[in-house]
Formats: sequence, C-alpha cells, structure tokens
Amino acid sequence: MIEINNMSFRYKEEKYILKDINLKIYKGECIAIVGRNGSGKSTFAKLIAGIMKPTKGEILVDEISTKNKKQYINLRRKIGIVFQNPENQIIFNNLKDELSFPLKNLNLENKEIRIKQALDKVKLNIEENAEIDELSLGQKQRITIAGVLAINPEYIVFDEPTTMIDSEGKEAVYNIISELKNNGYTIIYATNNTEEILLADKIIILDNGKIAEEISRNELIEKTEILKKYNIKIPTLISILKKLADEGIKINLNNYTMEELTDKIVERIAKF
Ligand SMILES: Nc1ncnc2c1ncn2[C@@H]1O[C@H](COP(=O)(O)OP(=O)(O)OP(=O)(O)O)[C@@H](O)[C@H]1O
Ligand SMILES: [Mg+2]
Repeated sequence: MIEINNMSFRYKEEKYILKDINLKIYKGECIAIVGRNGSGKSTFAKLIAGIMKPTKGEILVDEISTKNKKQYINLRRKIGIVFQNPENQIIFNNLKDELSFPLKNLNLENKEIRIKQALDKVKLNIEENAEIDELSLGQKQRITIAGVLAINPEYIVFDEPTTMIDSEGKEAVYNIISELKNNGYTIIYATNNTEEILLADKIIILDNGKIAEEISRNELIEKTEILKKYNIKIPTLISILKKLADEGIKINLNNYTMEELTDKIVERIAKF
C-alpha cells in the first residue's frame, strides 16, 4: 500500500504546489490523476515514485518512507516511473545496455531473463542489440516501460505516457497498462487524455494544490457534472452510458473493459 500522509510540496522557496494531501493507494488499484495544466500532476507523480521528496509530511510505499535514504534501493525495486517523453528517460542507444543498466544499479540477478520477459510484456519484437535512436517515439516509450518492468516493481507510476506519441503508439501503451492492471500491478497514472481515465478504478482530480475530488469508476456516470466543473472532457463511453441510463438502461461500468462495454451496449441496443 502507498500511504500519503499530510503531504505538502513546494519547489525551493516558491509557493506550495501541493497542500496537505492525504491518500491511500491499495495494492492492485489503478488510479488516474487528472487536473488542469499546472495543477501538479507531474509533481505528484514524481513524489509518489520517490524521485522527489515531500516538503512536509510523508509518503510511505509498503511502509518505506520515500525520504529514507537507507532504503533507497529497496524503494527503487518496488516502484518505477515512466515519463511523458521517452527521450528524456533513455540514456543509452543500445537496447540491451539501456535495459541492463538499472538492473545493474539495483543489483538484480537474472538480467537476461528479466529483459526478455519485459520486452515480451510490451510486445516489442526487436533485436536486443537494436539501436534505439532508429525507433519511433511509440517504440521508445515501450522501451522505457520495459526498462521499468525488467525491475519487476509492484507499483508503476506513469506521467502522461501517451501524450507525445502517435495514435497507434497510444493504443499500444494503453493496452500495456490495461494488461498490467489485469496482472495485479498497482498503477498510478497522470493523464490529460480523457478516454484513459476509463482504465482507472479511481480518478483523482487535483485542483489548487488539493485533491478536489475522488471519483470511483462506477460513479463516473452519475458524476459527469464534477468532471465538467474541472474542465475534464467526459469520455465518449461515459456520455453514451449516461444517455442510456437517462433512458432507464443502466449498465454498471465496474469490472468491464472498454471492449466488453461496447459489446454490452450493442447487445442491449440489439434487444430493442
Ligand atoms: N522544477 C520546477 N521548479 C519550479 N516550479 C516548477 C517546477 N516544475 C514544475 N513547477 C511548477 O509547479 C506547478 C505544477 O507543475 P506540474 O508540472 O506538476 O503540473 P502538471 O499538472 O503536470 O502540468 P501539465 O498538465 O502541464 O503536465 C506549475 O505551476 C509549474 O510551473
Ligand atoms: Mg505534467
């Protein structure tokens, strides 16, 4: 579990970006962090992943405080982060070097197997000696995800992982996150892409340095007004389901994937 206790953060002597945040993220949950530009999503993502430290309060990952320097390696084995722009995250040009480097740093064994399995999970079918700079941005993003998966952390933070890449790449990353979620990873992702909030069990809206709202996935249909209030575009599927609900056809959003939901809607409509 990740526990965020009375956590506030500011960059140097500037004003507080996040103020007195409390949140529990349970094992296996998938949490989306949304909010206007500059609301602090990326800052929050980095704090959760432990690559920046709270100014006040604390963040505990399985009871390890992200401020605890002695536990740094343990923390890095537990929680990984994927950024918006893979080019800022990739260090080496050779794929194998790139994927082995963090494993060496964290003294992890079975490097070859870890790398192979990670590449399989992100469905990257390329030579281990491939030159990274010849690949597309979407492929590069899958490499950064593979880099995190090779460590095999229990928690993965994504900071707008699909913003920079083309629609095909977006879909690939979306499918990877969805599969990780189904395989029990705990996922926290900041997103600006409305449709992606449907992946989450819980949506957290950041506003004015605070968690303004926490909406669970199956409350989305009845709480579309809240999304509107924070300028968050309502996912197409939610609009459709809301219209159906207004007509008396209630479909529970919980536990369905987008595809299953679409089938469900088509099935219901076919019955008319
Ligand atoms: N390194 C930094 N030093 C000082 N201020 C910063 C730094 N990084 C971000 N900020 C400020 O912190 C606030 C929150 O930024 P952050 O990038 O976390 O927001 P965000 O919600 O991720 O925005 P976006 O939607 O644009 O990705 C902004 O006001 C930003 O200008
Ligand atoms: Mg950001």
